[in-house]
Amino acid sequence: LFNGLALTPQMGWNSWNFFACDINETVIKETADALISTGLADLGYVYVNIDDCWSKAIRNLKGQLVPDSKTFPSGIKALADYVHAKGLKLGIYSDAGIFTCQVRPGSLYHEDDDAQLFASWGVDYLKYDNCFNLGIPPKKRYPPMRDAINSTERPILYSICEWGVDDPALWAGEVGNSWRTTDDINDTWASMTTIADLNDKWASYAGPGGWNDPDMLEVGNGGMTYHEYRAHFSIWALMKAPLLIGCDIRNMTDETMEILSNTEVIGVNQDPLGVQGRKVHSSGPDDCQQVWAGPLSGKRLAVALWNRCSSAANITAEWNSLGLEPSVKVSIRDLWQHKLVSRDAVSPFGAQVESHDSAMYIFTPQMSESHSVK
Ligand code: GLA
Repeated sequence: LFNGLALTPQMGWNSWNFFACDINETVIKETADALISTGLADLGYVYVNIDDCWSKAIRNLKGQLVPDSKTFPSGIKALADYVHAKGLKLGIYSDAGIFTCQVRPGSLYHEDDDAQLFASWGVDYLKYDNCFNLGIPPKKRYPPMRDAINSTERPILYSICEWGVDDPALWAGEVGNSWRTTDDINDTWASMTTIADLNDKWASYAGPGGWNDPDMLEVGNGGMTYHEYRAHFSIWALMKAPLLIGCDIRNMTDETMEILSNTEVIGVNQDPLGVQGRKVHSSGPDDCQQVWAGPLSGKRLAVALWNRCSSAANITAEWNSLGLEPSVKVSIRDLWQHKLVSRDAVSPFGAQVESHDSAMYIFTPQMSESHSVK
C-alpha cells in the first residue's frame, strides 16, 4: 500500500506469541521500557503492538470499542502517549469480522468509527484479523478499513491478517502494508520450516510498502534450540518478513538478545532494495540442504546456507543458482561470525553448517576490470 509506510519491513514487538490474552498495560509499558533499555529500539524495533484481548466484550452505548477496564484502566490513549514519549509507536488489533478471534467486538461495519477512535488515541499500526467474517470475501472486508484509516489522515501501518486463505499476495498489495501468507506460527521447528516454505511461494509480490508476512518471531520463547532460532531469524530477515519480536523481552536470555540484535542480519531485512530472498537450491535427503538468497542494494546478495537435515552438513552455493556470472569473484562476509571469510571467492562457496542452523552471508561481487579501471 503506497501510504508512505513500511518502505522496509516493519520492526517491533507484538504481545500474542508469548502473552496471548494475558496482557495488561503494565506489560505493555514494561515492554516499551525494555525495548529502550536493551537497545533494541535503536536497532529499529519501534512498534509496540497490542494483539487480541485488549478490549471489553461489548461496545459502549455510543457503539465504541472500550479498553478492558481491569487490564487497561488508563486507556489506550495513555499508553500511546507513554510509548510516544519514548520515541516508540503503538499498534493495536481488530478484526474484519463481527468478533475478534478471542470473541471481542470486531470492526466489520464499524470501520470508520473504529479507525477514527484509533487515530484519536494516537495509534500508529493496526493488525486486522479474519475471524467471524460471516463468509464475506476478504476483498470486501479489508479495503473498507484501508479507506477508513486513510480518512483519519493519521499514518497508520495496516497489517492484514487474513492467514493466506484467499491468496492475499495477489490482491493485498494495494490494500495493506503487509499480509499474512499462512496460518499461525507456533514455537516449533516443524511450524517454522513449513511456514517459510509456504511464504516463499509469494516472493515476487513483496516490495517497499507491501510485504508477505509469515507471522511473528518465536525467537526466545523456548520451543526451539539456539541454532533453530538463528535459522528462523536469518530466513525471516532474508524473506523481508516483518520482524516482530514475540517473546518476553523483559526477561530475555543473552542468546535471544544476540540473535534479535544482530545488526548485520537486520541490515539484510531493512535493505532499501526490498526484494524478498527465496529458496534457490536444495539437495540432500528430503532436500534438507538448502540455499536461500536474494539481491541487496549495491549489487550485493544475501545468502543463507540452511541445514534442515538431522546432522551437520556441508552446504554449497553455486554462482549460477545465485544469479552470478560464473567467473565473478566475490567477497564474502559472515553475518553471524561478523567477519570477512573471503576476499575473492570463486564458485562454488560451501560451508559446514550444524543441524538445523543457518549460516548467513553477504556476497559483494568485485567490479570487473572494465568498471574499476577508467
Ligand atoms: C489469530 C491471528 C493471531 C492472533 C490471534 C489472536 O489467530 O492469526 O496472530 O492475532 O488471532 O486471537
